[in-house]
This record gives sequence, C-alpha cells and structure tokens, in this order.
Amino acid sequence: INQLRFYHERVVDHYNNPRNVGSFDKSDPNVGTGLVGAPACGDVMKLQIKVDDKTGQIVDACFKTFGCGSAIASSSVATEWVKGRQMEDVVSIKNTEIAKHLSLPPVKLHCSMLAEDAIKAAVKDYEAKRAKSSTAEASPA
Ligand code: FES
Ligand code: FES
Repeated sequence: INQLRFYHERVVDHYNNPRNVGSFDKSDPNVGTGLVGAPACGDVMKLQIKVDDKTGQIVDACFKTFGCGSAIASSSVATEWVKGRQMEDVVSIKNTEIAKHLSLPPVKLHCSMLAEDAIKAAVKDYEAKRAKSSTAEASPA
C-alpha cells in the first residue's frame, strides 16, 4: 500500500510539475532531436539533448510530449536522467527502469518505451549531424 502511494506521488508529481519542458533550436549543431510516436495510441514525444561536442556530455535536455500522463511523466524522468551524462551511457537507459521508477502498470509500459526510444533517437540525430558536419569540414565544396 505504501509502495502504491509512493508510486502515485511520483507520477503525479512528474505530471503536474514536469521537469525540462520546452524546445531547443533544432538547427543548433549541438542539439540532438528525437521525435517518436506510439503506434498503439498515437501519442508523440519529442526529446532533445544539448551536447558538449568536446566531451560528449549531455549538458541539457528538454521535451514536449503530446500524450498521456504516464508518457509525460516518463519523458520528464528521462530528461532528468540524461542530464550530465555521456551519450554512450544514456542509450542503455531501459524503459523498464523508467517504468519501475514511476511504478507504471503493465498497460502503461509502452508510454515509458516512448521515452527510451526518444533518448536513442536524439543521440542518433546528434551523431548524424556531427558526421555530416565533419565530412563537410573535411571536404569543403
Ligand atoms: Fe524525478 Fe526520480 S522522482 S527522476
Ligand atoms: Fe500511449 Fe501513454 S497511452 S503513450
């Protein structure tokens, strides 16, 4: 029972006071953007990271989620967990860890999956951008 109350508080807290809601400029070379959708319900999550290109550290993160309370809470937790960490670390964040942290019920597991996917997509986007700009630097037109 205690466990249950605790879980509700965490979800409600992240839902009512989501951390790091917002957007970064997509065209900023240090920003990676992950935009993912859940086919099951049509909810959409955008998660962005700002990366220090010298160290690979994620210095900031934000999100915008058009979705259910669990998706909003999951993205809020995700942004808190990625901040200050290395890119190669955060791609191993599992949706089950987020779900456990928020004690999401099984039917809400896909909501936390959105957050895992969004983190991976943001890192991928950043890396793709970097790869592009370094080839551009290497072979100026
Ligand atoms: Fe916010 Fe844990 S309660 S990340
Ligand atoms: Fe689909 Fe939560 S019900 S993301």
